[in-house]
Amino acid sequence: MAIVNLQNVSKYYGTAETRVVALNNVTLGIEQGEFTAIMGTSGSGKSTLMHLAAGLDSVSEGSIWYGNTDITKLGDKSLTLLRRRNVGFVFQSFNLVPTLTALQNIELPFDLDGKTIDATTRQRINDLVNLLGLSERIHHTPDQLSGGQQQRVAIARALAGSPDVIFADEPTGNLDSHNSAEVLRILREAVKRYGQTLVMVTHDPAAAATADRIIHLRDGVVISDVRQQNGAGAADPAAAGANPVAGANPAAAGVAADSTEK
Ligand SMILES: Nc1ncnc2c1ncn2[C@@H]1O[C@H](COP(=O)(O)OP(=O)(O)OP(=O)(O)O)[C@@H](O)[C@H]1O
Ligand SMILES: [Mg+2]
Repeated sequence: MAIVNLQNVSKYYGTAETRVVALNNVTLGIEQGEFTAIMGTSGSGKSTLMHLAAGLDSVSEGSIWYGNTDITKLGDKSLTLLRRRNVGFVFQSFNLVPTLTALQNIELPFDLDGKTIDATTRQRINDLVNLLGLSERIHHTPDQLSGGQQQRVAIARALAGSPDVIFADEPTGNLDSHNSAEVLRILREAVKRYGQTLVMVTHDPAAAATADRIIHLRDGVVISDVRQQNGAGAADPAAAGANPVAGANPAAAGVAADSTEK
């Protein structure tokens, strides 16, 4: 079942001659419980797609559905609530509040929402802190944490409220290979353990290879959309073949092309 649906979504920047078409009539559904990887060269519209789908920016045309709600029709207040309650976002730059400890950062969405943390949520936060290997660092502020640790705090914050969907825009872009692998492992574990729906932008073909689905963008258009059998639950990513579901999709060629362009 699709949990988020984009219908004929376009995004333009600028006006008249300076107009940039960042996203061009994109229609796609994000499936519940799936790990979807978004790939494409720089400027192809990946971040634009993520920001629109997460309600962080407004569309120029089209609609975006969370269940029966078209979020492009929501007012600011409702949209803020949707972002806070239904969506988790993990950025390339970790976006933590520097004056708050790791734990306070994780709890921030609840504080903003004026919600007390009940026993179930407390348990989930404890689970996450352990899963993410943060128990020793929970009372440290971001400047006392490594990049990998900061990103793990950001992931814990995104996961804590059990959002319908997590959008992660190059979450490993500022990390070394060891921390990248760790962050990716944790995100996949969340898909497996919590049935978390995850959409992640990545330039790394190895990371995309572990997704359930790979969507390629070029010039704001979806040029391929491929389901793989080797998604987050599978044991051996190398063993599975790509299984085209839409378009004329030279998926493997696309992945290879991207890896050389970056
Ligand atoms: N605020 C903006 N004003 C004008 N043009 C913009 C703006 N944001 C993005 N664009 C343009 O829209 C297009 C898509 O940008 P986007 O950031 O979505 O690309 P991307 O695929 O995320 O690239 P990268 O891999 O470099 O992050 C690009 O041509 C970009 O220059
Ligand atoms: Mg981007």
